[in-house]
Amino acid sequence: MTKMSERGKTILVTGASKGIGQATVERFWAADSDVKHFILLARESDEFVAAEQQLLAANPHGKSFTSYRIDLADRAAVEALMEEISKTHGNVDYLINNAGFTAPAPIHEIRFDDFERTIGVNLYAPFTITQTLLHEGNHFEFIVNIASTAGMNGRSGWLTYSASKAAVIAMSQVMKEELAIYGTRVVCISPGRCATALRRTLAPDEDPSTIMQPEDVAEVIDMLSSRSGRFVDSQNIVVRL
Ligand SMILES: NC(=O)c1ccc[n+]([C@@H]2O[C@H](COP(=O)([O-])OP(=O)(O)OC[C@H]3O[C@@H](n4cnc5c(N)ncnc54)[C@H](OP(=O)(O)O)[C@@H]3O)[C@@H](O)[C@H]2O)c1
Repeated sequence: MTKMSERGKTILVTGASKGIGQATVERFWAADSDVKHFILLARESDEFVAAEQQLLAANPHGKSFTSYRIDLADRAAVEALMEEISKTHGNVDYLINNAGFTAPAPIHEIRFDDFERTIGVNLYAPFTITQTLLHEGNHFEFIVNIASTAGMNGRSGWLTYSASKAAVIAMSQVMKEELAIYGTRVVCISPGRCATALRRTLAPDEDPSTIMQPEDVAEVIDMLSSRSGRFVDSQNIVVRL
């Protein structure tokens, strides 16, 4: 039988095309660690292709990746993909539920389909990914759900996004309790302002060089996955400058 240390661990990252997701992939890819196989999810884009090329350009520890193009708002597609991933790749050890969407608007102007998409990508997708893989018999070692400080303190114009992220924080607390008996650690991270495309949508006039960078959040995720990360106990870890 192949031992875990020989097989290497598998990490699945959603929103792997750019921002915090891509920085997290890069960090684990560059590390001399037992995380060896990467499953990357995002929609088709030039950025996703560039992110893949960057991985191929430097692979010091002989790791492998498979990427999938998917719209995470499509629940049926997410279920089908998780079934396929389970059959093709076996166990997913680390799951980083990172993908996020926002279409900020004042309450009078919120389009309900944008609200549904926000909840679909930010809340239903991480739930569906986790539940479908559990149904496939997956044993997670470590799950990270990326929420937001916007889920703790709402701001004008962010109603749909804040509501979705508050729900992610609450969902993570329940996942943490329910999955503890399987030895799964569930961590909820709430970043503050971080220089990414999503942040530009929320705050178009901000100078990105003055705020937290995606690599900073990736470093925290890496630390939490480590042995010492086990001793960080919180319902919701706030990461901000
Ligand atoms: N930046 C901040 O200030 C901040 C603060 C708190 C929390 N967060 C959270 O951090 C996470 C990462 O966001 P980011 O800041 O790194 O933003 P980003 O650079 O815009 O990245 C968002 C990622 O989510 C993916 N995504 C969005 N909608 C999707 C869909 N329908 N289907 C599949 N993938 C989709 C994007 O992939 P595509 O290529 O398919 O668009 C992209 O990879 C999000 O959950 C966000 O809410 C960010």
